[in-house]
Amino acid sequence: MSKKLRKQIEKHGDLPNHIAIIMDGNGRWAKSHRFKRIAGHKEGINSVREIVRVCGEIGVKHLTLYTFSSENWTRPESEVSSIMNLLFSTIKKEIENLHKNNVRLSAIGELDDLPNKSYKEIMEGINKTKDNTGLNLILALSYGSRQELLMAVRRIVDRFKEKEINIKDISENMISKELYTSKIPDPDLLIRTGGENRISNFLLWQSAYTEFYMTDIHWPDFREKELLDSIIDYQMRQRRFGKISEQI
Ligand code: IPE
Ligand code: IPE
Ligand code: MG
Repeated sequence: MSKKLRKQIEKHGDLPNHIAIIMDGNGRWAKSHRFKRIAGHKEGINSVREIVRVCGEIGVKHLTLYTFSSENWTRPESEVSSIMNLLFSTIKKEIENLHKNNVRLSAIGELDDLPNKSYKEIMEGINKTKDNTGLNLILALSYGSRQELLMAVRRIVDRFKEKEINIKDISENMISKELYTSKIPDPDLLIRTGGENRISNFLLWQSAYTEFYMTDIHWPDFREKELLDSIIDYQMRQRRFGKISEQI
């Protein structure tokens, strides 16, 4: 990215510290090109590579990518297994480059549900990059926000039953600490590509005050320019958190 572009972005205001993206529209992108659905997922990887690079270059600290939802397991088996294979081969192929670029890989979701070889590859990638200090790239895999909240409730009730905590100890902070995202700040900007206006079980608790940006562009077409547009749109907004303008 050119210095000029970076300057242009900075002049609009603060960068989002954490961007989360619902990468939707791969299938429709493929259909519009008369390709099979999997070709859309493959092309989507090129978008991931570019968005990760740009986020690293401009200094975004956390990038969470909704890669596979807990509901996506209900897709036709052939599509699920193609996506899982792509996940495995992409991490294997890209991890060296991510490491070189100081990216720290992490993951949220029910990782145990993943096929063994994808699980192992991801764990190795996480371990290899754990001391990196650049972009924190968080893959949401077999992730569902309701499931995440349910598990948190169960763990808190357990601690109450064991008399480790009282009812009054249960706070918003305690709930946040029981989520997969315990070590990650809430997203500032949530982007959804592919034209749908819904959250599809993604980061329900964490996005209480997140700015939403929905675009009709399908994920394989979402590249540097589209990301910068979304960031500038975010920078033009006023986040009031319940207050009035004059207080900001
Ligand atoms: C998003 O693209 C990728 C995943 C959910 C894995 P889709 O596969 O949902 O694409 P559309 O929505 O059918 O176009
Ligand atoms: C959301 O997309 C999940 C991911 C992008 C991984 P979906 O395509 O699964 O969402 P719905 O089913 O249209 O809500
Ligand atoms: Mg979709």
